[in-house]
Amino acid sequence: MAEIKISGGRRLRGEITVSGAKNAVLPELAALAGMNGTGVIYNCPDITDIKTSVDIIRYLGGKAELSKGTLYADLNGINSYEIPSEPGCKMRSSITFCGGLLGRFGETVFSKPGGCILGERPIDLHLYGFKALGAETEETEGLIRVKGRLKGTKINLRYPSVGATQNIIIAACYAKGQTVIENPSLEPETLDLIKFLNTCGAGIKVKNSCIYIEGERTLKSKPYCTMPDRIEAGTYLFGAAMTGGKISLRGISPTELGIVWDILRKTGCELKYGRDYISLKSIERLKAIDEIVVKPYPGFPTDLQPQLTAMLSIAKGKSIIKETVFEGRNRHISQLLKFGADIEENKGFIITGTKKLKGADVTAFDLRGGAALCMTALAAEGESRIKNADYIFRGYKNFGEKISDLGGEISIINN
Ligand code: EPZ
Repeated sequence: MAEIKISGGRRLRGEITVSGAKNAVLPELAALAGMNGTGVIYNCPDITDIKTSVDIIRYLGGKAELSKGTLYADLNGINSYEIPSEPGCKMRSSITFCGGLLGRFGETVFSKPGGCILGERPIDLHLYGFKALGAETEETEGLIRVKGRLKGTKINLRYPSVGATQNIIIAACYAKGQTVIENPSLEPETLDLIKFLNTCGAGIKVKNSCIYIEGERTLKSKPYCTMPDRIEAGTYLFGAAMTGGKISLRGISPTELGIVWDILRKTGCELKYGRDYISLKSIERLKAIDEIVVKPYPGFPTDLQPQLTAMLSIAKGKSIIKETVFEGRNRHISQLLKFGADIEENKGFIITGTKKLKGADVTAFDLRGGAALCMTALAAEGESRIKNADYIFRGYKNFGEKISDLGGEISIINN
């Protein structure tokens, strides 16, 4: 695993371009499994998880290649419905290949997906959706088989799971008749997937917070440009705010940032925006925020909770963050304490801001937690080392280069 070395205490200054959204392009790549034709997806970030998706498409018999931020795929050769446990076990979104494979072959086989350890991460809602569409599911020796002709129906999700919503949407495109999903994920990444599928010939609408999918569609992949990554953007904005910096991000807007924009404002950052950029200036010590509840969209996104926790650890005053999405998204807390942060876990994270943080040797346990530790290292006085940095490269394109472009002093040691 690689290790990152950061010399902190400098203000971040400069401009970078936001990459395509990992959590939008992953379900879009997975949806290709049900299609024919040749696909082109622009604004595709060159990160580990995308490479894993490319490997899965090739394993299924298709062709795929990522070149200079564009994904080229030829899906005509897909001849297998079995999602390989290697590399499928490396990431959560390998399960999203099921929807397309079910539509194409009427069957799919997979082993429990991998991904960041953020708690139990069951897949019951995925299976619930497939069964509601008329498929049968069985589990033998760790392999899950889903089989059946799909028929449109009404599905009410007990929880607006992002992945389960996406999987059901994709499968429902091939079902006989209309499917309605009640209480679905309405994350921007899910809406981007819907836009992609409609570009490829699907008939999907969002109305009164429900998703309506017309069935029996033959989807043909068409060129598409994925949305910008609001989580990557928020990560660098929080990092810049922590260092008292002044940065601009190209390729993102306040609308795409949503509540993150409001939170940055509340901490006292000076924010500006134009047609295709936003800029942040952190002129004085950040203000604390009484209470933030992390929840499904349009709530504060769980994928920025570690970065927000880090940022508020140097704000003036006491903040409380309640994480309601992943019960296990707290492994960054013990590492933040090593920098001198004052955080107590008690029905949420009670953060008492400290003026200064000091460099420390810490370990990343997951993708977003790792990114939060790097942003903290940039703000802390002195040297820091972040072990298990490979987690970070799963979701941040050109991570080291972008931090250097913003004036951060970073080096990556490949062990
Ligand atoms: C997606 O994961 C994202 N991953 C995650 O980003 C993100 O944190 C998450 O959505 C929430 O926004 C991708 O898009 C590849 P969920 P997913 O299903 O689909 C429970 C990152 O850092 N649940 O909405 O796995 C689950 O346990 C990653 O980029 C069930 O109970 O998220 C969790 O508590 C991390 N049963 C909650 O729902 C199920 O069948 C949210 O999970 C599925 C989920």
